[in-house]
Amino acid sequence: MNSPPLPALPFDVAGIRLDGPGPLARQLVEQLRQRMLQGQLPAGARMPATRDLAAALGVSRNTVVRAFEHLLDEGLISSRVGDGSYVTPPLAQMASPLARPPSRATAPAQAPEPQTPRWQALQHFTPSRTPDGPVRAFRWGSPAMDLFPAALWSRLQARAWRRHSVSDLAYGDPAGLPALREWLADYLRSARGLPCSAEQILITGGAQQGIALAALALLGPGDEAATESPGYRSAAAALALQATRVHHVPVDAEGLRPAALEALGSRCRLLYVTPSHQFPTGVAMSLQRRLDLLAWARRQQAWILEDDYDSEYRHVGLPLAPLASLDTAGRTLYVGSLSKLMFPGLRLGYLVAPPAWLPTLARLRSVLDRHSACMDQQVMAAFIAEGHFLRHVRRMRRAARERRDALLDAWGRHIAPLGLPLPAPEAGLHAYLPLPSAALEQRLTEAAVRARLEVGAMRRVGGLPDSSARAGLVLGFAAVSAAGLGDAVARLAQAWRPEIG
Ligand SMILES: Cc1ncc(COP(=O)(O)O)c(C=O)c1O
Repeated sequence: MNSPPLPALPFDVAGIRLDGPGPLARQLVEQLRQRMLQGQLPAGARMPATRDLAAALGVSRNTVVRAFEHLLDEGLISSRVGDGSYVTPPLAQMASPLARPPSRATAPAQAPEPQTPRWQALQHFTPSRTPDGPVRAFRWGSPAMDLFPAALWSRLQARAWRRHSVSDLAYGDPAGLPALREWLADYLRSARGLPCSAEQILITGGAQQGIALAALALLGPGDEAATESPGYRSAAAALALQATRVHHVPVDAEGLRPAALEALGSRCRLLYVTPSHQFPTGVAMSLQRRLDLLAWARRQQAWILEDDYDSEYRHVGLPLAPLASLDTAGRTLYVGSLSKLMFPGLRLGYLVAPPAWLPTLARLRSVLDRHSACMDQQVMAAFIAEGHFLRHVRRMRRAARERRDALLDAWGRHIAPLGLPLPAPEAGLHAYLPLPSAALEQRLTEAAVRARLEVGAMRRVGGLPDSSARAGLVLGFAAVSAAGLGDAVARLAQAWRPEIG
């Protein structure tokens, strides 16, 4: 038996294909919507009867009815009783918040760019993003993540989820989980010699958010800020969110030079420093310089933001006391991070401030993103409370020390004889190799990349936009095993020999 001829349709259905993923009705909605927005189904066009369209497309009538109902809800078609459905005028379509096609992959090409100073400043900032794929030797900024006790963490996480209550899933305290604040205060007092209480601790999304929060909270219109040069680019970018200008104050063998700070005058209200382990040069700030900075802050009534990002890793002598512990005038804020002890993707850090500031800082945090993930904070608190954290820190410290020694040993055998001795890092997770010229920095970086090794060129790592960048390389030593580092140094020597000789 021959099938009856298909009824004539008011538009061409030849291009409609319903063989993609997802329900047929949704595919049909998307394709009809596309045609309407592109004008192939113009305003006022009469939609075919659902039965006819179903027959033409070879789908059930129900599918077409459901698709039409959805288009009706989106305001793309309207129906007149007894007279079928019509495509609505474009203005009415544009006003419908549902009318935007969810399947469109890119924004309209002519989207205007904001012209604000902040937007412009952000064009010069490259966010940190660890490369995908295998961990390569000399990756900087990475702790020994191969030692992270993932099985233990996942057990604690599973337990937290088994025992969770509804309030754990709701909005939490913007200052952070009280138990985690208590444990961190306890840790900072005993491990870092920083006198503080839980009431002074704001849990942040890493040190980075602590720096940005401090800039937003402490700088007013017209205020300037200062950072070290060479220095930590992410901190400079965070200060630039609020500061009218960010000065780059030179660092020498004793740390930041206070004399240069004096020259900035009274508009400079906030200074970011890394006194325990200057990033990236690795210098520990002398006691005299620390006292000079505190005196400057008192005199200028300015604030010091101390970033103590990796001070647990001290390879020579005893850990240095934080600058904040010397401050008797309450002008120092302290930021810390769990990125180097746990893992950077955890995004947990803390800001330590006077107790009276906490309510306002918590309000600011709440305005920005409310708070860090409650369940992650819970698991972190349990990890500390049950003794895993201190054990893990000891293990991480031991591994960093071993890897550092392996780097120095292999360097002494393979690369120092080429005329490039590596100063032994006294702290942290990277070594700093000063170089005589930017040209050599570039050649050595390119040769390392060709040998599939990751070195941090100062131009990228520590060069600040308006400072006279110092040439050098940052070489992380914690991310791969001691044996892996030994091999990598031998490969680096091979790759560098033609460049140096
Ligand atoms: C100077 C400095 N501060 C802080 C951090 C850690 O930042 P976050 O806690 O945001 O991961 C790093 C990481 O490389 C750093 O180099």
